[in-house]
Amino acid sequence: MIEIAPSLLAAPFGDLSASVATVLTAGAQVIHVDIMDGQFVPPITFGSNMVTLAKSLGSPVVEAHLMTVSPERHLETFAEAGADRIIVHQEATPHLHRVLGRIKQLGISAGVAINPGTPASLLREVIEITDVILVMTVNPGWGGQPFIPKCLEKVREIADIINERGAATLIEVDGGVNDLTIPQCVTAGASLLVTGTALFAAQNVATRFRELQSIARNG
Ligand code: DX5
Ligand code: ZN
Repeated sequence: MIEIAPSLLAAPFGDLSASVATVLTAGAQVIHVDIMDGQFVPPITFGSNMVTLAKSLGSPVVEAHLMTVSPERHLETFAEAGADRIIVHQEATPHLHRVLGRIKQLGISAGVAINPGTPASLLREVIEITDVILVMTVNPGWGGQPFIPKCLEKVREIADIINERGAATLIEVDGGVNDLTIPQCVTAGASLLVTGTALFAAQNVATRFRELQSIARNG
């Protein structure tokens, strides 16, 4: 099933609970929480308490996208906070294989994110132990940036690797995902679509969620 995953980074900070409740009522299955540490990327966002909040409101799947250096230091914290999936950046650790193994050991889904400048070929070494590959379609750190079309080639390349191996790994895209880019991402092989600005800038977020979900599922 193709899913739109709302990114709380773009939701109004004054009432995050209401935003989560709105998208859940509209049918969201996956809530995307962007954790930035001021090191891997310049901004600092929020910590594991945001995961706890999203989970406490009944989100079926809460995923923590760790844009942090040394992600291995935070795995237990985010698992205990209720994350159903932890996504680490390939560029943030020299021990990717071990980190993914540890996430699986914690009993949750393991994801790897790659920046626009990182080749897909590196993932060949870990694809069998990776549940989700998150292809960054902008450079991480900020919402509201334009989609980088070149990244679609990488989505296609990863889809080919997954097919070759007969792996069950899902492909997720993150950054500049909107009405125009959703069909391109789905055609290239993505089934999880993170949306921040395209969703939360709308007047009626519930209607907008259903509209984006429909574009993703029906073109
Ligand atoms: C960016 C984050 C994204 C961000 C996407 O570094 O990883 O999840 O919220 O925002 P939009 O959809 O506005 O590009
Ligand atoms: Zn993200």
